[in-house]
Amino acid sequence: MRIIQANDYDHLSELAANYLIDKIQTNPAIVLGLATGGTPLGTYKRLIKDHELYGTTYKNVTTYNLDEYVGFLPENPNSYHAFMYDNLFEKVDISTENVHLPNGSAVDLVEECKDYEARIEGAGGIDVQLLGMGSNGHIGFNEPGTSFQSTTQIVELAPSTREANARFFGDIREVPNQAITMGIATIMKSKEILLLVSGESKNEAMRKLVEGEVDESFPASVLNNHSHVTIIADKKALSGVTLR
Ligand code: F6R
Repeated sequence: MRIIQANDYDHLSELAANYLIDKIQTNPAIVLGLATGGTPLGTYKRLIKDHELYGTTYKNVTTYNLDEYVGFLPENPNSYHAFMYDNLFEKVDISTENVHLPNGSAVDLVEECKDYEARIEGAGGIDVQLLGMGSNGHIGFNEPGTSFQSTTQIVELAPSTREANARFFGDIREVPNQAITMGIATIMKSKEILLLVSGESKNEAMRKLVEGEVDESFPASVLNNHSHVTIIADKKALSGVTLR
């Protein structure tokens, strides 16, 4: 794992955006895996600015998001569909037919999981997967204890994850209990992974990721087994972490 140190969140966002812009310009038909949550927001803002100012095009870019809440229609303002359209897709020239998120309101969720997995494979797999990390080490919504062999699946959200995400809802009772998420094996099949980690609240998770064992009790630790992972982390996330 290559670790790039950023001074702060702004710097992290700038480095991550530049990283992705370079990948998109090198391969305009790139397949990107995307994340929601607070961490990539600054990166998405910069991708939009770059598109407006310098015209980097998303016309041939395909995207697959990591996850979606179960029971939410795409129109629900708290859905990850809505999050992605509001914070990126509506503001660049991506074609909606190239945008993919799991359908949390599918009648047959098991079939939807299989189908999502097949769609990713059909696209030739993910070239670059953008990830954030939960303070409990989750990636996607794969909570501690998830099998490293897991593929796209329906999961129960950990209480700490629901608490962390309540900030987007206003009331924790509104946060769903379940989500569809790419599995750990799905994420690990990506050719390349870019993990963003920011802030003191992720400090302990960052330490476990870098210094700890590779174990299913800490899902992000699996990234130590991937041959092409770049981590961009800010000083607060890295404080006190011994880099190998
Ligand atoms: C989001 C996702 C999650 C987040 C993680 C960190 O699609 O899959 O794993 O990346 O919960 O969230 P933030 O960035 O809000 O700290």
